[in-house]
Amino acid sequence: MNKDKNIPRHVAIIMDGNGRWARKKGLDRLRGHYEGVVSVREVIQASLDIGVEYLTIYAFSSENWGRPKSEVEGLMELFCKTIALEIPSLVEKNVRVVFIGEREGLGAEVLKSIDLCERTTRDNTALTLSVALNYGSRQEIVAAVKRITEAVSRGELTVDRISESVVADHLFTRNVPDPDLLIRTSGEHRLSNFLMWQLSYTEFYFTETLWPDFHREAFLDAINYYKTRSRRYGLVTEQIY
Ligand code: FPP
Repeated sequence: MNKDKNIPRHVAIIMDGNGRWARKKGLDRLRGHYEGVVSVREVIQASLDIGVEYLTIYAFSSENWGRPKSEVEGLMELFCKTIALEIPSLVEKNVRVVFIGEREGLGAEVLKSIDLCERTTRDNTALTLSVALNYGSRQEIVAAVKRITEAVSRGELTVDRISESVVADHLFTRNVPDPDLLIRTSGEHRLSNFLMWQLSYTEFYFTETLWPDFHREAFLDAINYYKTRSRRYGLVTEQIY
């Protein structure tokens, strides 16, 4: 339960810099991704400790398929291994895991592990962890437009009833509130096709820290930054307080 009202209810993270972290140490890029899992674990625990209710992490974008075959295969293997390994601890911590993104294109092994993870953690309530895997925001919006159009052509929906909430209900994130805080590591200042609809009123926090170096304290720094922000949603300060 979220006790401090200044704690963001939903934090989204673009975990960037794994490759550079590894290269700086003379290691293979994949080692950076493996080390990145340690940071994911710490951020999950910190979220539970401070009462963040939703955490969304960008694990693999629709565009990441274009990376060298060995890296893509290594990442898929990492996802399968990590998911299998982490399920007992996620259950123990009462974390519910959902995967957002296209199922199509993912291999049978990955599909099996994400289905098992979702099924096993379905009734957990302390934190909802959304893992964006084979996710792209533009693709998500196009898919939503298609499904809405189909509903109209079947006569289940009329054009004048299409609203923001109808669109939101057709996105992968339909049961999750919009993020309050977005964190991107490694000094990049881009959205990279991540949650473009959902981030309309989100506070952004950028840090130079590479993802494998982003530990509990770094996460708490981002939360403290969020606490200093005044969110106006297009209004003026006097209307908020
Ligand atoms: C971006 O760094 C990172 C990724 C594309 C992969 C992130 C995945 C993990 C941390 C593993 C999470 C595991 C699970 C099961 C959710 P980059 O490779 O773009 O780094 P660079 O910009 O330095 O090259």
